[in-house]
Amino acid sequence: MKIAPSILSADFANLGKDIGMVEQHTDLLHIDVMDGHFVPNISIGIPVVESIRKFTEMRLDAHLMIENPEKYIEAFALAGADTIIVHAETIKDGKPLQDIKDHNKRAGVSINPETPVSEIESYLGGVGQVLVMSVNPGFGGQSFMPEALPKIEELKKLRKENDFQFEIAVDGGVNTETSPKIVEAGADILIAGSAIFGSDDPLGAIIKMKGDGDGN
Ligand code: DX5
Ligand code: ZN
Repeated sequence: MKIAPSILSADFANLGKDIGMVEQHTDLLHIDVMDGHFVPNISIGIPVVESIRKFTEMRLDAHLMIENPEKYIEAFALAGADTIIVHAETIKDGKPLQDIKDHNKRAGVSINPETPVSEIESYLGGVGQVLVMSVNPGFGGQSFMPEALPKIEELKKLRKENDFQFEIAVDGGVNTETSPKIVEAGADILIAGSAIFGSDDPLGAIIKMKGDGDGN
């Protein structure tokens, strides 16, 4: 099981320290980019990804919760993101996903809680990650929505039937209590912000969510 700490809940005045801490137990970092339009919050952007890229060798997954993501794909690719995830609700067709791949990056597509898997079926053969939102995006610290579980199962089934290659990532309300059922449904990546950076024992939380699998 791969764990991706979401830096949205990290201490931005001590980001290097927080990244250095989680780096000991995972090699994947989730970076939330919010524009105040697609979601009712504003977070961080391209210069921060650039700085993180210089600081760590970890895989960087940039989760773009922004309108018109196609305008910024090149900038995030040049900043050093390894995966660029766009929301299905913000794209009209598969062109932005192809654009990400043309920049030699892993293309990810995300769906909000109200968006069914059927909306992204035509993209599934061409993406490296499907990110299932298990809260309405915009804020850390919300409660996990169990409606995400059948979507994870559906994606796993479709991947098997069609020999697709994407990772299934789950984002929102993931913690040591909710992780077992998410893992059981078939997720490959657990994205967690407050459960890690808001914990008294962040590394313990990572180890617990990782379970006994092969980690990463
Ligand atoms: C929410 C973000 C998440 C967020 C999760 O819109 O996409 O990545 O950091 O936070 P927690 O893990 O606290 O629910
Ligand atoms: Zn996210």
